[in-house]
Amino acid sequence: MAYPDTRLRRMRRDAFSRRLMRETVLTTDDLIQPVFVHDATGRAPVASMPGVERLSIDELLRVAEAASELRIPALALFPVTAPEAKSLHATAAWDEDGLAQRAVRALKSRFPQLGVITDVALDPYTAHGQDGLLDDTGYVLNDATVDALVKQALSHAAAGADVVAPSDMMDGRIGAIRVALEEAGHVHTRILAYAAKYASAFYGPFRDAVGSAAALGKADKTTYQMDPANADEALREVALDLDEGADMVMVKPGLPYLDIVRRVKDTFGVPTFAYQVSGEYAMLKAAAANGWLDERACALEALLAFKRAGADGVLSYFALDAARWLRDA
Ligand code: PBG
Repeated sequence: MAYPDTRLRRMRRDAFSRRLMRETVLTTDDLIQPVFVHDATGRAPVASMPGVERLSIDELLRVAEAASELRIPALALFPVTAPEAKSLHATAAWDEDGLAQRAVRALKSRFPQLGVITDVALDPYTAHGQDGLLDDTGYVLNDATVDALVKQALSHAAAGADVVAPSDMMDGRIGAIRVALEEAGHVHTRILAYAAKYASAFYGPFRDAVGSAAALGKADKTTYQMDPANADEALREVALDLDEGADMVMVKPGLPYLDIVRRVKDTFGVPTFAYQVSGEYAMLKAAAANGWLDERACALEALLAFKRAGADGVLSYFALDAARWLRDA
Protein backbone atom coordinates (compact mmCIF):
# COMPACT_ATOMS: atom_id res chain seq x y z
CA MET A 1 0.00 0.00 0.00
CA ALA A 2 1.53 3.27 -1.05
CA TYR A 3 1.44 6.78 0.36
CA PRO A 4 -0.90 8.31 1.48
CA ASP A 5 -2.65 5.07 2.62
CA THR A 6 0.57 4.07 4.31
CA ARG A 7 1.98 6.78 6.50
CA LEU A 8 4.45 5.25 8.93
CA ARG A 9 4.52 8.52 10.84
CA ARG A 10 0.90 7.98 12.03
CA MET A 11 2.03 5.44 14.59
CA ARG A 12 4.95 7.63 15.63
CA ARG A 13 2.76 10.65 16.26
CA ASP A 14 1.90 10.04 19.91
CA ALA A 15 3.65 8.49 22.86
CA PHE A 16 0.85 5.93 23.39
CA SER A 17 1.16 4.43 19.91
CA ARG A 18 4.95 4.56 19.99
CA ARG A 19 4.80 2.59 23.23
CA LEU A 20 2.33 0.08 21.84
CA MET A 21 4.42 -0.76 18.78
CA ARG A 22 7.78 -0.88 20.56
CA GLU A 23 9.43 -4.20 19.69
CA THR A 24 12.25 -4.32 22.23
CA VAL A 25 12.63 -3.34 25.84
CA LEU A 26 15.67 -2.93 28.03
CA THR A 27 15.13 -3.75 31.68
CA THR A 28 17.38 -4.16 34.69
CA ASP A 29 16.95 -7.93 34.26
CA ASP A 30 19.17 -7.64 31.19
CA LEU A 31 22.19 -6.17 32.96
CA ILE A 32 25.36 -7.71 34.37
CA GLN A 33 27.82 -5.39 36.13
CA PRO A 34 31.53 -6.23 35.74
CA VAL A 35 33.56 -5.34 38.86
CA PHE A 36 37.29 -5.17 39.53
CA VAL A 37 38.51 -6.35 42.92
CA HIS A 38 42.00 -5.67 44.31
CA ASP A 39 43.96 -6.91 47.30
CA ALA A 40 44.27 -3.44 48.85
CA THR A 41 42.12 -1.23 50.99
CA GLY A 42 39.53 1.15 49.62
CA ARG A 43 39.00 2.08 46.01
CA ALA A 44 41.42 2.96 43.22
CA PRO A 45 40.24 4.68 40.04
CA VAL A 46 40.97 3.26 36.58
CA ALA A 47 42.28 6.21 34.56
CA SER A 48 41.04 5.01 31.17
CA MET A 49 37.59 4.08 32.56
CA PRO A 50 36.18 7.15 34.34
CA GLY A 51 33.70 6.11 37.01
CA VAL A 52 35.12 2.57 37.30
CA GLU A 53 37.19 1.69 40.36
CA ARG A 54 39.14 -1.28 41.63
CA LEU A 55 37.48 -2.31 44.88
CA SER A 56 38.59 -3.94 48.09
CA ILE A 57 36.35 -6.81 49.17
CA ASP A 58 34.65 -4.44 51.66
CA GLU A 59 33.94 -1.92 48.93
CA LEU A 60 32.82 -4.72 46.62
CA LEU A 61 30.18 -5.64 49.18
CA ARG A 62 28.90 -2.03 49.10
CA VAL A 63 28.58 -2.22 45.32
CA ALA A 64 26.88 -5.59 45.64
CA GLU A 65 24.39 -4.08 48.04
CA ALA A 66 23.59 -1.32 45.56
CA ALA A 67 23.27 -3.88 42.77
CA SER A 68 20.94 -6.01 44.90
CA GLU A 69 18.75 -3.03 45.76
CA LEU A 70 18.53 -2.14 42.08
CA ARG A 71 17.71 -5.81 41.30
CA ILE A 72 20.63 -6.28 38.93
CA PRO A 73 20.75 -10.08 38.46
CA ALA A 74 24.49 -10.65 38.59
CA LEU A 75 28.02 -9.29 38.95
CA ALA A 76 30.99 -10.45 36.88
CA LEU A 77 34.13 -10.49 38.98
CA PHE A 78 37.62 -9.59 37.72
CA PRO A 79 40.57 -9.78 40.13
CA VAL A 80 43.52 -7.42 39.92
CA THR A 81 46.51 -9.56 40.79
CA ALA A 82 49.53 -8.04 42.52
CA PRO A 83 52.78 -8.44 40.51
CA GLU A 84 54.23 -10.81 43.13
CA ALA A 85 51.28 -13.19 42.67
CA LYS A 86 51.96 -13.51 38.93
CA SER A 87 54.10 -16.37 37.65
CA LEU A 88 54.88 -18.41 34.57
CA HIS A 89 52.54 -21.19 35.67
CA ALA A 90 49.76 -18.94 36.98
CA THR A 91 49.32 -21.14 40.05
CA ALA A 92 47.68 -18.30 42.02
CA ALA A 93 44.66 -18.72 39.70
CA TRP A 94 43.40 -21.76 41.62
CA ASP A 95 44.56 -20.78 45.12
CA GLU A 96 41.56 -21.48 47.31
CA ASP A 97 42.49 -18.41 49.34
CA GLY A 98 43.09 -16.28 46.26
CA LEU A 99 41.48 -12.89 45.84
CA ALA A 100 38.80 -14.09 43.41
CA GLN A 101 37.89 -17.05 45.62
CA ARG A 102 37.71 -14.87 48.76
CA ALA A 103 35.61 -12.29 46.93
CA VAL A 104 33.17 -14.98 45.78
CA ARG A 105 32.79 -16.36 49.31
CA ALA A 106 32.22 -12.86 50.73
CA LEU A 107 29.62 -12.04 48.08
CA LYS A 108 27.72 -15.30 48.40
CA SER A 109 27.59 -15.17 52.19
CA ARG A 110 26.28 -11.59 52.27
CA PHE A 111 24.10 -11.55 49.12
CA PRO A 112 23.16 -15.15 48.35
CA GLN A 113 20.51 -14.16 45.80
CA LEU A 114 22.91 -12.03 43.72
CA GLY A 115 24.43 -14.06 40.88
CA VAL A 116 28.23 -14.24 40.88
CA ILE A 117 30.03 -14.84 37.60
CA THR A 118 33.78 -15.50 37.65
CA ASP A 119 36.30 -15.02 34.87
CA VAL A 120 38.14 -18.22 34.02
CA ALA A 121 41.36 -17.15 32.32
CA LEU A 122 44.98 -16.99 33.32
CA ASP A 123 45.92 -13.50 32.14
CA PRO A 124 45.68 -11.80 35.56
CA TYR A 125 48.05 -14.47 36.92
CA THR A 126 50.66 -14.96 34.20
CA ALA A 127 53.86 -12.91 34.33
CA HIS A 128 53.54 -12.33 30.56
CA GLY A 129 49.87 -11.34 30.50
CA GLN A 130 48.78 -14.06 28.06
CA ASP A 131 45.66 -16.15 28.80
CA GLY A 132 47.64 -19.36 28.84
CA LEU A 133 50.89 -21.17 29.50
CA LEU A 134 53.69 -20.68 26.97
CA ASP A 135 56.08 -23.06 25.25
CA ASP A 136 59.72 -22.13 24.59
CA THR A 137 58.79 -20.14 21.51
CA GLY A 138 56.17 -18.06 23.33
CA TYR A 139 53.24 -19.93 21.76
CA VAL A 140 50.23 -20.36 24.07
CA LEU A 141 49.89 -24.09 24.75
CA ASN A 142 46.31 -25.26 24.40
CA ASP A 143 45.96 -28.48 26.39
CA ALA A 144 48.26 -27.53 29.28
CA THR A 145 46.30 -24.30 29.60
CA VAL A 146 43.00 -26.21 29.63
CA ASP A 147 44.28 -28.30 32.57
CA ALA A 148 45.04 -25.09 34.46
CA LEU A 149 41.64 -23.58 33.57
CA VAL A 150 39.89 -26.67 34.92
CA LYS A 151 41.65 -26.21 38.28
CA GLN A 152 40.73 -22.53 38.29
CA ALA A 153 37.07 -23.19 37.43
CA LEU A 154 36.82 -25.89 40.13
CA SER A 155 38.23 -23.49 42.73
CA HIS A 156 35.65 -20.87 41.74
CA ALA A 157 32.81 -23.38 41.95
CA ALA A 158 34.06 -24.60 45.33
CA ALA A 159 34.06 -21.00 46.57
CA GLY A 160 30.41 -20.74 45.53
CA ALA A 161 30.47 -19.10 42.10
CA ASP A 162 27.10 -19.48 40.38
CA VAL A 163 28.53 -19.12 36.89
CA VAL A 164 32.04 -19.70 35.60
CA ALA A 165 32.87 -17.78 32.44
CA PRO A 166 35.89 -19.01 30.48
CA SER A 167 37.21 -16.02 28.53
CA ASP A 168 40.41 -17.56 27.23
CA MET A 169 39.46 -19.10 23.84
CA MET A 170 41.42 -22.35 24.25
CA ASP A 171 39.96 -25.26 22.28
CA GLY A 172 38.09 -27.86 24.32
CA ARG A 173 38.00 -25.98 27.61
CA ILE A 174 34.23 -25.94 27.96
CA GLY A 175 34.01 -29.72 27.72
CA ALA A 176 36.91 -30.25 30.12
CA ILE A 177 35.42 -27.83 32.66
CA ARG A 178 31.95 -29.34 32.34
CA VAL A 179 33.21 -32.89 32.97
CA ALA A 180 35.30 -31.76 35.95
CA LEU A 181 32.40 -29.82 37.47
CA GLU A 182 30.10 -32.82 37.17
CA GLU A 183 32.70 -35.16 38.67
CA ALA A 184 33.20 -32.80 41.61
CA GLY A 185 29.45 -32.66 42.21
CA HIS A 186 29.03 -29.06 41.05
CA VAL A 187 26.09 -29.97 38.89
CA HIS A 188 24.38 -26.58 39.25
CA THR A 189 27.34 -24.43 38.24
CA ARG A 190 26.49 -22.69 35.00
CA ILE A 191 29.01 -22.10 32.25
CA LEU A 192 28.89 -18.82 30.34
CA ALA A 193 31.26 -19.41 27.45
CA TYR A 194 33.02 -16.48 25.88
CA ALA A 195 32.34 -18.39 22.70
CA ALA A 196 33.00 -15.75 20.07
CA LYS A 197 35.69 -13.61 21.57
CA TYR A 198 37.64 -11.50 19.14
CA ALA A 199 41.26 -10.31 19.28
CA SER A 200 40.08 -6.76 19.77
CA ALA A 201 41.84 -3.48 20.41
CA PHE A 202 38.81 -2.40 22.42
CA TYR A 203 40.07 -4.32 25.49
CA GLY A 204 42.83 -1.75 26.15
CA PRO A 205 41.29 -0.02 29.20
CA PHE A 206 40.43 -3.41 30.81
CA ARG A 207 44.07 -4.45 30.56
CA ASP A 208 45.00 -1.20 32.34
CA ALA A 209 42.39 -1.96 35.01
CA VAL A 210 43.66 -5.46 35.79
CA GLY A 211 47.30 -4.52 35.25
CA SER A 212 47.96 -7.02 32.45
CA ALA A 213 48.76 -4.34 29.84
CA ALA A 214 52.30 -3.82 31.11
CA ALA A 215 52.94 -7.55 31.29
CA LEU A 216 51.61 -8.10 27.78
CA GLY A 217 53.64 -5.26 26.26
CA LYS A 218 53.51 -5.33 22.48
CA ALA A 219 52.34 -8.94 22.31
CA ASP A 220 48.81 -9.72 21.13
CA LYS A 221 46.30 -12.58 21.46
CA THR A 222 45.73 -13.32 17.79
CA THR A 223 46.78 -16.98 18.02
CA TYR A 224 43.73 -17.79 20.17
CA GLN A 225 41.19 -14.95 20.07
CA MET A 226 39.22 -14.63 16.82
CA ASP A 227 40.04 -12.50 13.81
CA PRO A 228 37.62 -9.52 13.65
CA ALA A 229 37.19 -10.28 9.95
CA ASN A 230 35.37 -13.57 10.60
CA ALA A 231 31.71 -14.36 11.21
CA ASP A 232 31.10 -17.97 10.06
CA GLU A 233 33.91 -19.04 12.37
CA ALA A 234 32.01 -17.51 15.31
CA LEU A 235 29.12 -19.88 14.61
CA ARG A 236 31.52 -22.83 14.68
CA GLU A 237 32.91 -21.64 18.02
CA VAL A 238 29.42 -21.31 19.48
CA ALA A 239 28.36 -24.73 18.15
CA LEU A 240 31.38 -26.39 19.76
CA ASP A 241 30.91 -24.65 23.11
CA LEU A 242 27.23 -25.63 23.22
CA ASP A 243 28.10 -29.18 22.28
CA GLU A 244 30.68 -29.28 25.08
CA GLY A 245 28.15 -28.16 27.67
CA ALA A 246 27.92 -24.37 27.76
CA ASP A 247 24.66 -23.05 29.26
CA MET A 248 25.07 -19.57 27.83
CA VAL A 249 27.24 -18.09 25.13
CA MET A 250 28.78 -14.69 24.72
CA VAL A 251 29.88 -12.46 21.90
CA LYS A 252 32.63 -9.98 22.69
CA PRO A 253 33.17 -7.06 22.06
CA GLY A 254 29.63 -5.77 21.71
CA LEU A 255 28.54 -2.89 19.54
CA PRO A 256 30.95 -3.50 16.62
CA TYR A 257 29.83 -7.17 16.61
CA LEU A 258 26.03 -6.94 16.71
CA ASP A 259 25.87 -8.85 13.42
CA ILE A 260 27.46 -11.79 15.24
CA VAL A 261 24.97 -11.50 18.12
CA ARG A 262 22.10 -11.63 15.65
CA ARG A 263 23.48 -14.64 13.77
CA VAL A 264 24.22 -16.55 16.97
CA LYS A 265 20.74 -15.93 18.36
CA ASP A 266 19.02 -16.81 15.09
CA THR A 267 21.11 -19.94 14.53
CA PHE A 268 21.07 -21.48 18.00
CA GLY A 269 18.25 -19.86 19.97
CA VAL A 270 20.19 -20.23 23.23
CA PRO A 271 20.80 -17.72 26.04
CA THR A 272 23.07 -15.24 24.29
CA PHE A 273 25.01 -12.44 25.92
CA ALA A 274 27.16 -9.63 24.67
CA TYR A 275 29.95 -7.75 26.41
CA GLN A 276 30.01 -3.99 25.99
CA VAL A 277 33.74 -3.91 26.65
CA SER A 278 36.00 -1.41 28.33
CA GLY A 279 36.89 0.44 25.13
CA GLU A 280 33.23 0.92 24.23
CA TYR A 281 32.64 2.33 27.70
CA ALA A 282 35.71 4.57 27.48
CA MET A 283 34.61 6.01 24.12
CA LEU A 284 31.20 7.00 25.43
CA LYS A 285 32.64 8.40 28.66
CA ALA A 286 35.25 10.46 26.82
CA ALA A 287 32.73 11.92 24.40
CA ALA A 288 30.33 12.69 27.24
CA ALA A 289 33.08 14.33 29.31
CA ASN A 290 33.76 16.62 26.36
CA GLY A 291 30.11 17.51 26.06
CA TRP A 292 29.96 15.84 22.64
CA LEU A 293 27.44 13.12 23.52
CA ASP A 294 24.64 12.78 26.04
CA GLU A 295 25.94 9.95 28.25
CA ARG A 296 22.63 8.68 29.56
CA ALA A 297 20.84 8.76 26.21
CA CYS A 298 23.73 7.16 24.31
CA ALA A 299 24.41 4.48 26.91
CA LEU A 300 20.75 3.46 27.07
CA GLU A 301 20.49 3.49 23.27
CA ALA A 302 23.56 1.26 22.96
CA LEU A 303 22.21 -1.16 25.58
CA LEU A 304 18.83 -1.31 23.85
CA ALA A 305 20.60 -2.05 20.56
CA PHE A 306 22.06 -5.21 22.10
CA LYS A 307 18.54 -6.37 22.92
CA ARG A 308 17.30 -5.54 19.43
CA ALA A 309 20.18 -7.55 17.96
CA GLY A 310 19.00 -10.59 19.92
CA ALA A 311 21.04 -10.52 23.12
CA ASP A 312 19.31 -11.76 26.27
CA GLY A 313 21.60 -9.66 28.42
CA VAL A 314 24.61 -7.39 28.39
CA LEU A 315 27.74 -7.16 30.49
CA SER A 316 28.21 -3.44 30.83
CA TYR A 317 30.22 -1.06 32.98
CA PHE A 318 27.10 1.14 32.77
CA ALA A 319 24.90 -1.52 34.42
CA LEU A 320 24.48 0.19 37.81
CA ASP A 321 23.95 3.61 36.23
CA ALA A 322 21.59 2.16 33.64
CA ALA A 323 19.54 0.44 36.35
CA ARG A 324 19.20 3.81 38.10
CA TRP A 325 18.29 5.57 34.86
CA LEU A 326 15.67 2.93 34.09
CA ARG A 327 14.26 3.13 37.61
CA ASP A 328 14.04 6.93 37.50
CA ALA A 329 12.73 7.18 33.95
C1 PBG B 1 40.76 -11.68 29.86
C2 PBG B 1 39.61 -10.78 29.63
C3 PBG B 1 39.66 -9.61 28.87
C4 PBG B 1 38.42 -9.00 28.99
C5 PBG B 1 37.63 -9.81 29.81
N1 PBG B 1 38.38 -10.93 30.18
C6 PBG B 1 40.78 -8.99 28.13
C7 PBG B 1 41.53 -9.74 27.14
O1 PBG B 1 41.07 -10.75 26.60
O2 PBG B 1 42.65 -9.31 26.87
C8 PBG B 1 38.07 -7.68 28.37
C9 PBG B 1 36.93 -6.95 28.94
C10 PBG B 1 36.86 -5.51 28.58
O3 PBG B 1 37.61 -4.98 27.74
O4 PBG B 1 36.00 -4.84 29.17
N2 PBG B 1 40.64 -13.00 29.68
